[in-house]
Amino acid sequence: MQIVTSVAALREVIRQWRQAGHSVGFVPTMGNLHAGHIKLVSTAKQQTDKMVVSIFVNPTQFGPNEDFASYPRTEQQDQEKLIANGADLLFLPAVTEMYPQATQTGISVSGLSALHCGASRPGHFDGVALVVCKLLNMVQPDLLLLGEKDFQQLTLIRQMVADLNIPVAVQGVATVREDDGLAMSSRNGYLTDQQRQHAPKLYQALIAARDEILAGHVDYPAVAERQRQNLQQAGFAVDYFSICRSKDLLPASTCDANLLILAAAKLGTTRLIDNLYFSTINN
Ligand code: PAF
Repeated sequence: MQIVTSVAALREVIRQWRQAGHSVGFVPTMGNLHAGHIKLVSTAKQQTDKMVVSIFVNPTQFGPNEDFASYPRTEQQDQEKLIANGADLLFLPAVTEMYPQATQTGISVSGLSALHCGASRPGHFDGVALVVCKLLNMVQPDLLLLGEKDFQQLTLIRQMVADLNIPVAVQGVATVREDDGLAMSSRNGYLTDQQRQHAPKLYQALIAARDEILAGHVDYPAVAERQRQNLQQAGFAVDYFSICRSKDLLPASTCDANLLILAAAKLGTTRLIDNLYFSTINN
């Protein structure tokens, strides 16, 4: 695996691949790689000739009181995992390489960026959209792989790619879970042993809400409220628990068949997010 830290070196490697006729897949990450990231890498590898992974803890997507400084940075282990899983190129830029000057251009996917996580993390999705747009301009891949665990991020990036005519196919990859159902996340490492034991209750609440709906409960706000209260009783500080249409993440009605239940909740200071897609037809 080659490792480059500058945009110029990244472009040169990719230029040579293109000259040789290779297709390029791209997995953007903030590092601290776990099995969820590795699934993105292996999915990309099956579909493209060459595969680029970026590791960049992007300051513009963290709020002033968030965990930018303490976000886990595990470069050495990440490199070993990427080599073991066949990545061809690792792009490892410094903040000054990604943002060499004060950026005056913003990207805001209005509407989507104000919902759910966006409501409690102002500016977060503008930071995500900006860095992903810059990375796509640098790598110019054929295929972009993103995890479905961050479903709102995936939906927003799809919208940005469509709105800005960025020539890349975007593929979501299913969430990888621990044996007890907890969605894999770099932030799980912040949990104490006791919090870790309770953490799967977030996924269990999503399943319970889905099962209520599939059993015929049509008052979606009431279904969501019941699970919100269950989580609160289990010690979570619930940010949101929303039953939405999977296509645009707006509140679902009984006319909608393809639903996504999204939730975010804190255990102590650790913010966990998860979601569950399902269809109300053919069940
Ligand atoms: O999902 C993430 O890890 C980040 O939001 C991303 C897409 C790498 C942008 O910084």
